[in-house]
Amino acid sequence: MSSPQVLSAALPADAPVAEPARRATEIAEFGEAVLSGLARHPRSIPSRFLYDAVGSALFEDITRLQEYYPTRTETALLEAHGAGIAALSGDVRVLVEFGSGSSRKTGLLIDALTNLDTYVPIDVSEAFLVEAAKRLMAQHDGLTVRPLVGDFTRPHTLDGTPHGDRLGFFSGSTIGNLTHEEAHGFLENAAQLLGPDSAFLVGVDLKKSLDILIPAYEDDGGVTASFSLNLLTRINRDLDGDFDTTRFAHVALYNADKGRIEIYLESLTDQDVQVLGQTFSFTKGERIHTENSHKYSVPEFQTLAEDAGWTPVKVWTDEAQLFSLHLMRRA
Ligand code: AVJ
Repeated sequence: MSSPQVLSAALPADAPVAEPARRATEIAEFGEAVLSGLARHPRSIPSRFLYDAVGSALFEDITRLQEYYPTRTETALLEAHGAGIAALSGDVRVLVEFGSGSSRKTGLLIDALTNLDTYVPIDVSEAFLVEAAKRLMAQHDGLTVRPLVGDFTRPHTLDGTPHGDRLGFFSGSTIGNLTHEEAHGFLENAAQLLGPDSAFLVGVDLKKSLDILIPAYEDDGGVTASFSLNLLTRINRDLDGDFDTTRFAHVALYNADKGRIEIYLESLTDQDVQVLGQTFSFTKGERIHTENSHKYSVPEFQTLAEDAGWTPVKVWTDEAQLFSLHLMRRA
């Protein structure tokens, strides 16, 4: 991806969305990732490609499923503890949100931070950013929104945003998509970006019984399966593929050694598939690894964060110990 672009601070009502050049780069990157991912064994495709417009809408549907506890649990924690979080975060002027998505939860935090003047959402989806910026500026009088388009796992600079205490926010256990090594790198990067005296609020899904965990990734209504299989539809559309989505199945399992849910697309038959003119042969039962969702105990996450330069301040969890919100300060 090219270096992140700062969108204009005052967004016009009809700001251009996904200009053709960016879309071409996106498809080229997607093509490279899919061709190399299908050529290696075991096969894997990075999870960020699950989130095209359809995938992002399906993920929104997932967040409303009865089986999917993380979103409502984290939202409830923010509702209950927003004031407490604000009180321990310092005199926050700038809120930086990583992978902001549709940023539904952000409003709760913005309301709690009484001296906030600037909100910086970072996301790969320009469409989402423009939407969120418009909505949040309309809802919060005097708030300046300075969106950054880009991959939040890569370096950025906050040059041009006002000084003053900064709070980072990384919600939804999106950090669970990253391996421990990647999460370490991300947290170090965030420490660098946010600067001295900053704080960081991170939502982290907790380890728990498989009776709760597995259904969250394999719901009865098949919404999560549609979300996974949409990756194949996206390949068919953008990369001239011919995947038969009825011949692949969504599989979610818990890898206890690695402390993570692993999601795969499993071939239901022996079959050949074409992508960008190349043929890939699948045997029945062969899988494509599409996503990881790491789970952490409170001390596990604190150790990871401390190694990356963050000192734990306070952790909030719900009564059922499903989800955690970690507030940390730069060491
Ligand atoms: C967006 C990474 C937090 O791991 O729970 C949910 C993604 N994938 N169901 C998660 C996801 C299938 C989600 N995160």
